Amino acid sequence: MGWAKFQQRCKNFAAKLYFSISGSALKQGENLSSDGENNTSPAMSETLRRAAREGAVLLKNRNTLPISGKFALFGRGQTDTFYTGYGSGGDVIKPYRVSILQGLERGGAALVEPVKEAYLKFSEQHPVSHGCWGNWPRYFPEMPLSSELVEAARAETETAVVVLGRAAGEDRENELKAGSFYLTEEEKAMLARVTAAFPRVAVVLNIGSVIDLSFLEEYNISAALLLWQGGMEAGNACADLLLGKANPCGKLADTVARAYSAYPSSQNFGNAAYNDYAEDIFVGYRHFETRAKGDVRFPFGFGLSYTTFAISANYGNGVVKFCVKNTGERAGREVVQVYAEKPAAAHAPARELVGFFKTKELAPAEEEQGEIVLDDRAFSVYAEGCGFVQFGGTYRLYVGADVRSAEEIASFELQERIAEHASPLSYAVKIPPELAKTAKHCAFSDVAAGKATLTEFVASLSDRELEALAYGAMKMDSPLGASGNAGVMGGTTAELRARGVPPVTMTDGPSGIRLKTSSSLLPIATLLACTFDPALVEEVYRGVGEEMRARGSHVLLAPAMNMHRDPLCGRNFEYYSEDPLLSGKIAAAAVRGLQNAGVSACPKHFACNNQEFNRSHNDSRVSERALREIYLRGFEICVKEARPHFLMTSYNKINGVYAHYNAALVNGILRGEWGFEGCVITDWWMQKGSCPEAGKRKNNAARVYAGVNVLMPGGGYLGKKYQHGGLLKKLNKKGHLTRGELQKNACEILGAILKTAAMGSEKSEK
Ligand code: BGC
Repeated sequence: MGWAKFQQRCKNFAAKLYFSISGSALKQGENLSSDGENNTSPAMSETLRRAAREGAVLLKNRNTLPISGKFALFGRGQTDTFYTGYGSGGDVIKPYRVSILQGLERGGAALVEPVKEAYLKFSEQHPVSHGCWGNWPRYFPEMPLSSELVEAARAETETAVVVLGRAAGEDRENELKAGSFYLTEEEKAMLARVTAAFPRVAVVLNIGSVIDLSFLEEYNISAALLLWQGGMEAGNACADLLLGKANPCGKLADTVARAYSAYPSSQNFGNAAYNDYAEDIFVGYRHFETRAKGDVRFPFGFGLSYTTFAISANYGNGVVKFCVKNTGERAGREVVQVYAEKPAAAHAPARELVGFFKTKELAPAEEEQGEIVLDDRAFSVYAEGCGFVQFGGTYRLYVGADVRSAEEIASFELQERIAEHASPLSYAVKIPPELAKTAKHCAFSDVAAGKATLTEFVASLSDRELEALAYGAMKMDSPLGASGNAGVMGGTTAELRARGVPPVTMTDGPSGIRLKTSSSLLPIATLLACTFDPALVEEVYRGVGEEMRARGSHVLLAPAMNMHRDPLCGRNFEYYSEDPLLSGKIAAAAVRGLQNAGVSACPKHFACNNQEFNRSHNDSRVSERALREIYLRGFEICVKEARPHFLMTSYNKINGVYAHYNAALVNGILRGEWGFEGCVITDWWMQKGSCPEAGKRKNNAARVYAGVNVLMPGGGYLGKKYQHGGLLKKLNKKGHLTRGELQKNACEILGAILKTAAMGSEKSEK
């Protein structure tokens, strides 16, 4: 371990010790092994099973899948299946979980019994331990395989399936080591034995982030199914696909490169103090398709099916019209992907995803026609100090079923023009004037009932009440909210509750609801992105929203939508993709699902939280263009299309300024330019600091100035004890926070609370 890593470990330890002593213990992780009451609806189980199978990606298939006869199932992941990743984003008490073995047995698979028995016994004798926060296992050691067992199995069948599992999480990066990005010696020995004996070997990858897949070529492996971590229905989904009850239709949301060193971020990832985003806009396939085609093992958008499709398309007036025909013998779904190439003057990637469409299930010989409308952004790039610019020159469009094989369907000339102006990355907030005093004493319920305006109510709040609104209720698992909550904001004091402001309960996401009661465990976000199916993701989160209402959670701290900049990021499983359009569309669907169910969404972590190591100190150094085209783009799509009620900033700095003090980002771009009208909260606790434009405002005053409304969960800086109250000490003094700013802050918070399910709920009456 290097010195920086050692220091970081010490800091993390100190922070956790503080929180446990002060009663704010990070409870994350304790739900890992527990199963709760089965309170999931059959409809939700069915939706999650469908999602889990529709996001699985068939990478390779030489006459092996689906399997019709008997087969031998190897790898302890069959019993010790990884259902999700670690940390706040996966820590859900599951109502049940179906392992790969259970799923296959329920699905009627004919398994070689002695092999199954050997794994069941091994798992029982070597139970897995999940360890503690930040030290969770990335893999489980394999059972040594005897040649007798393999030979006995081979006597019964020619087909074998091998399950390989990996996990990582919050505060737990993937590592460039055996047992994480690479196979262990025991796993290699297992593959060597099995592939030497069986002519047909399918590998099931039960993983949360891309790993090194060179072994697919090094051993005689005839099929590979990227199952991901499929949530509580993982095993059933796996069985549906392996046994041919369903046809794989997932597509890669990330490029799989031939080697880690080929990833454009690999030289600038994992540093303690800062990472230079030297690859700029050339993230993932944008790099590979432009500069390094030979480094790709499986291209972005790729995924096989048990059937075949023919796609034809043409383009005119901003619209791609397509026709997809199932040319094979099984029903299946296909994803039409549209990529644009801009003129050389734009210095843009060779191909960029500008639209996609997933067909319905097409029977053999059936066709589906449709349209994909391209907006201005499809043809513009971000020019610093100017905005989104369409360069003059030749544009080309490619359509197909992955980025590499997509074929040119049109080429046309466009004139140079400014497509959209944008606000710069430095931002001076105009200080809002103080609201005129109002004689009217109204309650918050009067605002909800339309009998008073929000500004009238806010004008009537005392300084103390305005200040209290700017903090959460001090600890995680607040007694003001449903048990096991991540925090509560809004009516955090008796005075505020007396005025009718309800306490608002926030719970993690994204893989379900993290409470002390059980809730459905979803497939990981990456899998959901691989469905390329916003309608399905919306249905999934509508179900989550209904569960939230039943359990008293008002805001889901999800979707998590940082970019897959590097395959080693521990939280990649919570995030969607290396592509911002796909991330944005899937996140927007998740927000719509939640909010249409009557609860609120809180997309996170805004922005550039693309590494876990030292995340609360690390500086993401990134160009304005890469910010706009890659790291902010998904948030922009989500905010503009789905209007989330809340949004969470990230722990890290962006070009030297912490996200929670970043006035340019929050008040400038998010609110000013994108029209976000909701409430912005910090990630849990924050670092001290300020931003260059904030005058004498520091820490929480600078945060409010920047437009970040609420410190969550309240009660401290990361690792340091702190009492509320600091905001009023220098109120209205020259260069310091003003009452007008606190009122604007309160308007934004209360405006969002009005939209939550907390309005009218029991606790608000207390
Ligand atoms: C994570 C957030 C999470 C919060 C509350 C933080 O450590 O970064 O994603 O929502 O904790 O659990």
